[in-house]
Amino acid sequence: MKVVSLFSGAGGLDLGFVLAGHTIIWANDLYEDAVMTYRHNLGEHIICEDIARINASDIPDCDIIIGGFPCQGFSVANMKRFEGDLRNSLYKQLIRIIEEKRPKFFVAENVKGILSLGKGKVIDMIMNDFANLGYIVQKKVLNAADFGVPQIRQRVIIVGVRNDVDFKYTYPTETHNESGTNGLKKWVSVSEALANLPNPDCPNGLKNHTYSKYKLNFNGYIGHRRLDPDKPAPTVTARGDNRGGVVILPHPNAERRMTCRELASIQSFPVDYEFFGNNSSVYRQIGNAVPPLLGKAIAEVFNNYQNREG
Ligand SMILES: C[S@@+](CC[C@H](N)C(=O)[O-])C[C@H]1O[C@@H](n2cnc3c(N)ncnc32)[C@H](O)[C@@H]1O
Repeated sequence: MKVVSLFSGAGGLDLGFVLAGHTIIWANDLYEDAVMTYRHNLGEHIICEDIARINASDIPDCDIIIGGFPCQGFSVANMKRFEGDLRNSLYKQLIRIIEEKRPKFFVAENVKGILSLGKGKVIDMIMNDFANLGYIVQKKVLNAADFGVPQIRQRVIIVGVRNDVDFKYTYPTETHNESGTNGLKKWVSVSEALANLPNPDCPNGLKNHTYSKYKLNFNGYIGHRRLDPDKPAPTVTARGDNRGGVVILPHPNAERRMTCRELASIQSFPVDYEFFGNNSSVYRQIGNAVPPLLGKAIAEVFNNYQNREG
């Protein structure tokens, strides 16, 4: 189906939709490095511009609108989270575009912390706003590890189906679990995810295989905890600033932080997916992304509708 993507970033969610067989016909982000990354890997259809400055009439008609609206204001990792955060209003842009384009479906992704924000009032407001556009709206927390991503990453996935469309969206079924029982595969571990990546300190042909020298200090805070190589990694975040303060997971060898390439593998990006910008920017693009494998699982459900409609 034809997909329009908002807040596309480096293209994690979009890659998932492409892997599921859909076509992204238009995308948008205002972050230049992420747009370069996107163009290089996914195509020229991305526009680098503030979404608030884009008329819906300039966006092509589509079947699905997808968008992980910016979550800094919602994240529990951000101590300044509060209801009135101006960034939260970016989801209003998603509302505006859905209202004008009226796609059959939409998918909105966000951090789990959004559920408890304002004691649940914020998510209720968001769900009501979407429903008032004429959509049947559902939400569910999915853990990327349950879909083969080597990372515990819980995200709220909101899906809307236009009232007049005869389709019930059913969330994808988990393919993995912690123990590998009940006919499911075992969660993919960090060591499995990194097994084929060469030592970055030796000559190698890989793109983005360099790491931050930000000092290691295992003090128990996020980004400063030892990694268990036999388990999925904790959530990759895009926390921090442009001056080296981005919190990057340590490598399980506990001697250095992960390279951008390693972190991209933890997010399930293919090894040839090249990122642009300096290391801080690349780490941020990766931390912001929906793991492509999770995106693919969410996107494949729409194939049931498409197959039925022919
Ligand atoms: C959570 S990230 C999305 C990541 C993406 N879904 C992925 O899977 O890679 C949110 C994105 O929204 C973008 N953004 C923030 N404000 C924006 C605005 N006013 N207009 C367009 N994009 C914006 C950011 O640059 C960031 O890349």
